[in-house]
Amino acid sequence: MATQKLTISLKAQINAIIPRYVEPRSAVMPALHLIQDEFGYISREAMEEVATILGLTPVQVYEIASFYHQFHTKPIGCHHLQVCINVSCMLLGAENIVSQLEQSLNIESGQTTADGRFTLSAVQCLGSCDTAPVMQINNQAYCEHLTGQRVEEILQRLREAPMGHRPEAFAGAQKDQREFTVAK
Ligand code: FES
Repeated sequence: MATQKLTISLKAQINAIIPRYVEPRSAVMPALHLIQDEFGYISREAMEEVATILGLTPVQVYEIASFYHQFHTKPIGCHHLQVCINVSCMLLGAENIVSQLEQSLNIESGQTTADGRFTLSAVQCLGSCDTAPVMQINNQAYCEHLTGQRVEEILQRLREAPMGHRPEAFAGAQKDQREFTVAK
């Protein structure tokens, strides 16, 4: 099983942000961002380590990591395609965009391609309703006024782009799919 041990450097970065807050536990969100930036997702192992550092229980960390859609608790692909399916985008064809991507990538929304290159997600409002329909790539680039042709052009560019470290992490971590269960 792939390990996701926090490095000394990553622990130092997390410890450096703790003094910015009254309570160490309040640093959990930036700490999770640091972990995700490093590994591409936040594993159970990483949640346990950050919980120890911040004085939280692993379940408390998991509840936060799984609540916000910008955090990934499972490995994701090199290119994370998030298509908005909220009202403005839906009215302007978001469902067709999702269907087209599902067909082109041969996966369903919420899945990752076998080679770890693409993950497709249908998400709620991305805050760019006036340029609907909209897709965001890797929490960064916005692709606006999408059409079927634009989607194919974007996919072509991404297929030709070099793979980052995330597919490697994905391949090694697929088995690490356990989740925390809250004690009753
Ligand atoms: S409804 Fe799609 S960006 Fe707001």
